Amino acid sequence: MCGIVGYVGKRPVQDLLLAGLKKLEYRGYDSAGISVIAGDEIESLRAVGNLQNLFEAVAAREADDGGVAVAVQTATTGIGHTRWATHGRVNESNAHPHFDTSNAVHVVVNGIVENYVALKRRLQDMGAVFTSETDAEVIAHLVAHHCALGSLEDAVLAAFNELEGHFAFVAMRLDEPDKLVGVRKECPLVVGRGDGETFLASAIPAFLSETRRTQYIENDEIVVITPDDVRFLGPDGSEHEREVEEIDWDEETAEKGGFDTFMLKEIHEQADAIADTVADRTAPGTHVDLDDVGALDENMLRGIDRILITGCGTAYHAGLMGRYALEEWAQIRTEIDVASEYRYRKQLVGPGDLVIGMTQSGETADTLAAMRAAHEAGATVLAVTNVVGSQATRDADGVLYTRAGLEIGVAATKTFVCQVAVMYLLALKLAELRGTMKPATMERIVGEIKRLPHSVQEVIAAATDPDTGLPAGPVAEAAERHWQADFFLYLGRHIGLAVALEGALKLKEISYISTDAYAAGEMKHGPIALLEDGTPVVVVATDSPVKDKVVSNMQEVAARGAHVIAVAAESDHEIDEHAKQVLRVPDVDWMLQPLLGTIPLQLLAYAIASRRGLNVDQPRNLAKTVTVE
Ligand code: G6P
Repeated sequence: MCGIVGYVGKRPVQDLLLAGLKKLEYRGYDSAGISVIAGDEIESLRAVGNLQNLFEAVAAREADDGGVAVAVQTATTGIGHTRWATHGRVNESNAHPHFDTSNAVHVVVNGIVENYVALKRRLQDMGAVFTSETDAEVIAHLVAHHCALGSLEDAVLAAFNELEGHFAFVAMRLDEPDKLVGVRKECPLVVGRGDGETFLASAIPAFLSETRRTQYIENDEIVVITPDDVRFLGPDGSEHEREVEEIDWDEETAEKGGFDTFMLKEIHEQADAIADTVADRTAPGTHVDLDDVGALDENMLRGIDRILITGCGTAYHAGLMGRYALEEWAQIRTEIDVASEYRYRKQLVGPGDLVIGMTQSGETADTLAAMRAAHEAGATVLAVTNVVGSQATRDADGVLYTRAGLEIGVAATKTFVCQVAVMYLLALKLAELRGTMKPATMERIVGEIKRLPHSVQEVIAAATDPDTGLPAGPVAEAAERHWQADFFLYLGRHIGLAVALEGALKLKEISYISTDAYAAGEMKHGPIALLEDGTPVVVVATDSPVKDKVVSNMQEVAARGAHVIAVAAESDHEIDEHAKQVLRVPDVDWMLQPLLGTIPLQLLAYAIASRRGLNVDQPRNLAKTVTVE
């Protein structure tokens, strides 16, 4: 995911920007760049790939061009960025900083500008010349256009009020060399206060080695920084006061963004991760864009007879959710198997079949072997992965990337929700091509997918403490009640079964509590024998055509003394009669509710494991990437 760093002060800015970007590397990126105010020019350098390439470009400029190099080395104002591509390919012209036509305003942007198409058209009509395929560039031109208003902050304020989406950006202007103006709308941005110098960054580690004094920027605020002063403005231009806070984090806590663990941080990053994953595939309009997926062009997709999904662990569960979406929306025959089994089955696939390898790392040995076996049998193979350049991307005929950023916690969270989001997009695309969904339904569901980041944020906000980010509310109550249990049963039907399986896997992975996850209708053929008074049973009871059946199963387990924890829609009040605790998700389309339902279950597992005093980031015996069979 993208990173921002900016500086105004008295020290040479270039080294500070490069050091800051290095500290943000852990977020994952595919290109990087910096711009500094060097005398009467803004000098910029951008490079694709590892930061090392940017360092080498800087070194080459120093060796090549004495004049520019000296001006850059003495520059004291600048901005830097690591980009994780969303709109537009990974190349130098799409890397940030972006700039306006006269090269007088440079910006670095995280997040998504949803209305960039309309704004771009308007700015082009006024003569703006665009040089990238990104949504971010529109901000540079828009701010430059509004500079006629006077100051950079006036221009940014006017631009902010025209922009839709969720983003954070920092703007720099040649005519006001000792100033940066930043904006925060749902994406993170913080101020670092030094002595005669000020930093702006998307995360504290970017400046932690330089200063521990910080000021937090609120949502929808504009911040104006100069070497000695910081002003906070509301969208109406009103000034806000802000305390300076001293950070007592060490480097490791800083990398965790202030959260207790990487897993908790990654749970909280899920809204941004989904936004980055779906953004370039859904905007603008209701059309799902799956261009750029290698051999999987529209002709190929139209001709698919059957889909087979394979993967391991959490990725397998994401695939299972995808199967229901593919069947429900695209009405396409879809099978799924764990990779360690599929690779040794008789390969009855061939041309016309699409085999999808789900693997966040792109390196899981069994998944790679299953994909190869399918490929050799003649199927077209698609990789769904989070890692650019991983083995899966090299072996597959096409790649659909999730954009979750680096995931460090061994138990997958944000990569899972992004895998599910990608499967939803694929199912919608196939539905569009096969004409299996009414246009009005398509429009509604694509709209809800675009709003998924907001829905995810709603679920997280309702289930966590606003100060610590720790599980709170009904999730924390359920954890407090059951953290000593030695067994949990998880039940679900249809797509809700996949949520139950994933919820149970999360709990066993990090809390070491024995779990069983079952198709709710099958429960009476076995697991019902395990129920005792007070046995915790998690039931996924989100809206669906089989919800009444699920409610019957809740009654069956309650009648045997089980303590039911239900996952249900916000407006479903009836469910309270059948459950001791209800974990709520927003009233989105019934096929999307299950994705949201996995989040309180991640937090439930987290709360229980923490209560048991366990290391959630590195559970015993488990590995993040399993490169052995
Ligand atoms: C390991 C990890 C899981 C992950 C699985 C598949 O078991 O602990 O979190 O879901 O591998 O990994 P992949 O990288 O292929 O998605």
